[in-house]
Amino acid sequence: MSGAIGIHDLEIATTHHVIDLADLAAARGVDADKFRIGLGQDRMSFPAPDEDIVTMGAAAAKALLERTGADGIRTLMFATESGIDQSKSAAAFAHGLLGLPAQVRAVELKQACYAGTAALQAAIGIVARNPQERVLVIASDVARYALHSPGEPTQGAAAVAMLVAADPALLEIDPVSGVFTADVDDFWRPNDSSVALVDGKLSMSAYVDALLGAWDDLQARGGARPDEIAAIAYHQPFTKMAVKAQRRLAAHLGTALDDEPLTTMSVYNRGLGNSYTASLYVALAALLDGDASLVGRRVGLFSYGSGSVGELLTALVRSAGAGRAERVQRMLDARVGLGIAEYERLHAVSYPSDTDAETPRVTAGPFRFAGIRGGARVYEPVG
Ligand code: COA
Repeated sequence: MSGAIGIHDLEIATTHHVIDLADLAAARGVDADKFRIGLGQDRMSFPAPDEDIVTMGAAAAKALLERTGADGIRTLMFATESGIDQSKSAAAFAHGLLGLPAQVRAVELKQACYAGTAALQAAIGIVARNPQERVLVIASDVARYALHSPGEPTQGAAAVAMLVAADPALLEIDPVSGVFTADVDDFWRPNDSSVALVDGKLSMSAYVDALLGAWDDLQARGGARPDEIAAIAYHQPFTKMAVKAQRRLAAHLGTALDDEPLTTMSVYNRGLGNSYTASLYVALAALLDGDASLVGRRVGLFSYGSGSVGELLTALVRSAGAGRAERVQRMLDARVGLGIAEYERLHAVSYPSDTDAETPRVTAGPFRFAGIRGGARVYEPVG
């Protein structure tokens, strides 16, 4: 064993429904190119009434565990900023659906879109202490803004499951990273709101501040130099944000950076929309799946969560994602389109905890949110 720790395997899941942003543009009286070119988005995933962060996260983890098995997993971390309970973690629900043993610690992490990276770093710490252990990290989110708001075309939904282990097959994470935190009100979701509140322009400048701050910290701590990093995977609230961020980083460094990876890493996110905590790892998967020449080279991963925290990791690519590109494409193609009237109706659907309710059977995924009983959320396998 080399002492290397990182991501051994990674899987993506999304929702039953999809909305074409050309339809949304037509309904909102906006030029479709504003979304397609201006934001870099084509479609957005949208959950059926019996889907949420738990069903998506458990679906991604189930597919992952079918390949890797669950041996050695003693920790399940669930990162999300669209949490479904103020106390019980989404990890506890997912633990039950996945049939993991009782000898597992299960916990939820929150710091906007950044929490998946916090989970990854904590997982690496656990594996460093005991290299026999493996940690299941799930990052799952439904990005939801108010109808007719500027954020509406940047909604979306997806989950990523990652197995963190010693001697990883996919990606070896370097010990040194750059971090940056600033107390900013660029995006938040109050406890009594089902949609996020956002100052979009402030969030874009806070993202860039965090990138440059994390970059400078990485360099000050002796991390990988610019010429050692073949490509950077970025958190993509909309894919054009990565283009803007890389331009600002290039100006900061006073050097040109290769734009080709920006196209490669955006392939999945253009069709999923924003997936908050999962977005960076969806971009990473697309980059690895789309560019086999990265094997044996170092990549950067920039994680940003409003509020705000940024972290720039670097990592050595050990292998490309065998067969994942075909799986993701099949998953994207299998989604069922929603017209705008039906999307608007579903956007308003909620299941308050004070009324027992059963959800309609819609999802074709392996797990479903069955409804509310006695104030508690009930999940079940799709039989
Ligand atoms: N063809 C091509 N591009 C067009 C266009 C057209 N017909 N019309 C507009 N555009 C471009 C604009 O020039 C702009 O590009 P630029 O930023 O490179 O100049 C882009 O489309 C977006 O237009 P803009 O008017 O700035 O959009 P907006 O104010 O309606 O909202 C966000 C954009 C991102 C602020 C909004 O979607 C939002 O708040 N999203 C949620 C928050 C978020 O994702 N933050 C990111 C950091 S975490």
